[in-house]
Amino acid sequence: MAKVQRKKKKPARLVLGVNSGTSVDALDIGLFRITARDGLYPVKSINQAIYKFPSKLHQALWDLISSRKATIEELIKADRLFSFFIASKIKSALRKFETTPEGIDIIGCHGQTIRHLPKDKATLQIGDPSIIAASTGITTVGDFRRADIGAGGEGAPLSPVVHNYLFPKDRPLGVLNIGGIANLTYLPGKTSKRKIFGFDCGPGNILIDALARNYYNRSYDKNGSIASVGRVINKLMGELTSDKFINNPPPKSTGREYYGEQFIKNHFGNGNKRADLITTATEFTAQAIALNVRKYIPTDAKRLIVCGGGAFNGNLMERLRSNLDGYSIRDSSEYGLNPKYVECAGFALLAVLAIDGVKSDLCSTTGSLRPTVLGKICYA
Ligand SMILES: Nc1ncnc2c1ncn2[C@@H]1O[C@H](COP(=O)(O)OP(=O)(O)O)[C@@H](O)[C@H]1O
Ligand SMILES: [Mg+2]
Repeated sequence: MAKVQRKKKKPARLVLGVNSGTSVDALDIGLFRITARDGLYPVKSINQAIYKFPSKLHQALWDLISSRKATIEELIKADRLFSFFIASKIKSALRKFETTPEGIDIIGCHGQTIRHLPKDKATLQIGDPSIIAASTGITTVGDFRRADIGAGGEGAPLSPVVHNYLFPKDRPLGVLNIGGIANLTYLPGKTSKRKIFGFDCGPGNILIDALARNYYNRSYDKNGSIASVGRVINKLMGELTSDKFINNPPPKSTGREYYGEQFIKNHFGNGNKRADLITTATEFTAQAIALNVRKYIPTDAKRLIVCGGGAFNGNLMERLRSNLDGYSIRDSSEYGLNPKYVECAGFALLAVLAIDGVKSDLCSTTGSLRPTVLGKICYA
């Protein structure tokens, strides 16, 4: 019987981080060098690639995510299709990065969330790490959320663990990730007695993208150009800012189940100008984030690092700045990480932590009862 070759623990590893978030926009692949040093794991970004989903796959994922009636057959077929798509794009990325599977130590792959049900403490990601490992020949870690659920948590957000390793500790910081959903992390800094924590704070790009799709047939509002020409509809803003989720205290996590089609229908369906709807959604997104920063992030963190695709929406960033007067708001590129690839860096890092057996403490974030090693390891 063939023996599984387990690579020895090395101080510096080349790791691929693979992500496709709630925006369902593309598969992002980042190549990172991660060094294990005195319990720290400094991450250096080396290269990155982005692969749009082919329309058949996009449709299959979208149908599963948005339909309550998807069948198990559809689910397992989409899982297979998506897993092989990931494997094939990893091979393309390796060619682009001028390396081979032998040059890569580990893959960390989040997969695509199909359902996230925080109240039920249930979550499902597809894109199977076994298929990816066997197809690429690279040990793959995936399914990062389940250990947290096993320990009593909601399984999301995981990013506070990652932000803690990625960003400096010389002062208290807030980290804002604007993916489909926006999440916030509080990093207390090394001299504080406070604990690291994080939470989903509400919509990120999800409402803006849905309106751009519905009213302009575009996948997003590039650079916020539509939002910059419309006006805020005050009555609608009043309605939106009373949204329960944004006002609730942490721990909290959410997804497309809440800020999906029904939310859009309930609030954005009437006879307003289409640009005004996008402007209002953008202002609401900024206000919801600002409200959560002011209400739930300790006031010693006056610097906010922004990452995720939303960092490229200039209008959203402008609105965020004007709603958070007194805060210094910068994007993660100031810390050597392209905002679009911070999540990839995170899954690369979580993969290394899994291989090294390092536990992550999400007790103040997801409500889990104890630290756990996150992820399933599938050896090549
Ligand atoms: N140049 C840009 N202008 C405006 N929005 C952008 C831009 N680039 C990316 N985005 C937004 O970022 C989203 C993708 O962000 P991403 O971090 O990949 O989210 P997710 O993790 O949910 O997939 C896009 O759907 C879009 O809303
Ligand atoms: Mg994405």
